[in-house]
Amino acid sequence: MRSIPLGWALLACAAAAQAQSAPDARTQMNTQALAATCANCHGTQGRALPGAPVAGLAGRPADELATLLRDFKSGKRPSTVMQQLAKGFNDTQIDQLAAYFAAQPPERRAAPSPAAPSWRVVAVRRDRVLSSN
Ligand code: HEC
Repeated sequence: MRSIPLGWALLACAAAAQAQSAPDARTQMNTQALAATCANCHGTQGRALPGAPVAGLAGRPADELATLLRDFKSGKRPSTVMQQLAKGFNDTQIDQLAAYFAAQPPERRAAPSPAAPSWRVVAVRRDRVLSSN
């Protein structure tokens, strides 16, 4: 008899843990979707190409990015397009965008050396052929 209440208690804990993690996943997806709208001008994940006329955002301090966005929004910082864009974001979204870009590595990761991947592809193909027979 005693194990039944314990079982329910564990179930309740599991349900509570799931309920807590679901909004986090949604928030993360929303943030990525918002941040993707910046890529056309600021580069993929905020990494501007060398010589690009628009500044990169990746790896810059979140406070700095959030302040810039709020100043665009209020009109304190003069701009051509950012004032219009920033007006579309609330405080939470501005903080999410700033944190997202601050967390992105500013440099592209080095491309893998050409020899290693081609060898691996051959190995994977052999493996697939062997396992399907
Ligand atoms: C249509 C192109 C365009 C898009 C899309 C865009 N930006 Fe910008 N961004 C600019 C330009 C141009 C500037 C320079 C200020 C100006 O004239 O508006 C700028 C400046 C900035 C700056 C200040 C950089 C600095 O060092 O002065 C930040 C921060 C910024 N943008 C963030 C964002 C974020 C976050 C998004 C996505 C929500 C975004 N931008 C989307 C064009 C764009």
